[in-house]
Amino acid sequence: MDKDIFSPVVLPEERIIESSLRPKSLEDFIGQERVKAQLDIFLRASIKRGETLDHVLFYGPPGLGKTTLAYIVSSELKVPIQVTSGPAIEKAGELVAILTSLDEGSVLFIDEIHRLGKSVEEILYPAMEEREIDIVIGKGTGARAIRIRLPRFTLIGATTRFGLISPPLRDRFGIVERLDYYSPEEILKIIERAAKILNIKYEKGALREISFRARGTPRIANRIIKRIRDYSDVKGDGFISRSLALEALSLFEIEEHGLDREDIRILETIAYKFGGGPVGIETLSSAIGESAETIEEIYEPYLIKMGYIERTPRGRTITENGLDILKGKER
Ligand SMILES: Nc1ncnc2c1ncn2[C@@H]1O[C@H](COP(=O)(O)OP(=O)(O)O)[C@@H](O)[C@H]1O
Ligand SMILES: [Mg+2]
Repeated sequence: MDKDIFSPVVLPEERIIESSLRPKSLEDFIGQERVKAQLDIFLRASIKRGETLDHVLFYGPPGLGKTTLAYIVSSELKVPIQVTSGPAIEKAGELVAILTSLDEGSVLFIDEIHRLGKSVEEILYPAMEEREIDIVIGKGTGARAIRIRLPRFTLIGATTRFGLISPPLRDRFGIVERLDYYSPEEILKIIERAAKILNIKYEKGALREISFRARGTPRIANRIIKRIRDYSDVKGDGFISRSLALEALSLFEIEEHGLDREDIRILETIAYKFGGGPVGIETLSSAIGESAETIEEIYEPYLIKMGYIERTPRGRTITENGLDILKGKER
């Protein structure tokens, strides 16, 4: 299969189109009703009181809308947003430079915040809590500490690995929101919206087929519709009918449950190599040749959510539903 389709990572050529497909307001954002309802209250309360919004942490699997929500928060608050990421900030001094140059009241978005280095992270604690940082100037006996007052700001952190965020950092977020996979109905609305923006003509049944195969993930859904449009432009007349969509889905090996090859391999390995489990994550990882981290972060949450595997204290086991998926597939 074309591995890119299910890749959780944003491909470089996707950056521009992703931002064009990004909902700009909370109202425009489909699904995640609980998160939206909560954010709506917090946003309105902070606007009403004229205070900065508390720091926000978004977590959940890749492609579900964390970055999109960060932009929405800044636009709903009508404040500027400064965007960076955990791995991009290598030294404490770099974070100090970012913090001291923020516009009053703005949003600082740190993506992959679990990847901040320890010394960088420690700058954040007093910055988040008291809006100040202590820095040391000079060296040796001439060194002295000075305290810098920071502008008001809201930190928005995003992570796929909630468990890797250190407790002191986690505790400093007043608002913590978990994003979950989308239902096929929600995915359908998302691709209808994308098709409209991209000016794609379609039969509704075609989009419905796609909605079940996107792994509950808007990024993947948007990608599939674009690939099917390519197929249609070459093999058809640009119109996406249900039968054309099915042809394209079959050519791209996007199977009917929306599982990718790696998902299937995980199910097969647990079922056939380990007799259905339980199998520990490290053992599974070396059997598949995929890091335990990737399995835990990207594959497993969806397989668990769909009820294909279970996590037990002794390891992962495959369920009846999981075994059903494998029936009819060649080994
Ligand atoms: N609720 C949603 N409604 C419509 N499009 C969405 C929604 N959530 C995400 N998307 C689209 O999916 C893509 C990935 O979203 P993004 O916010 O970058 O995910 P994350 O940061 O969680 O990896 C973006 O192009 C965005 O437009
Ligand atoms: Mg993101």
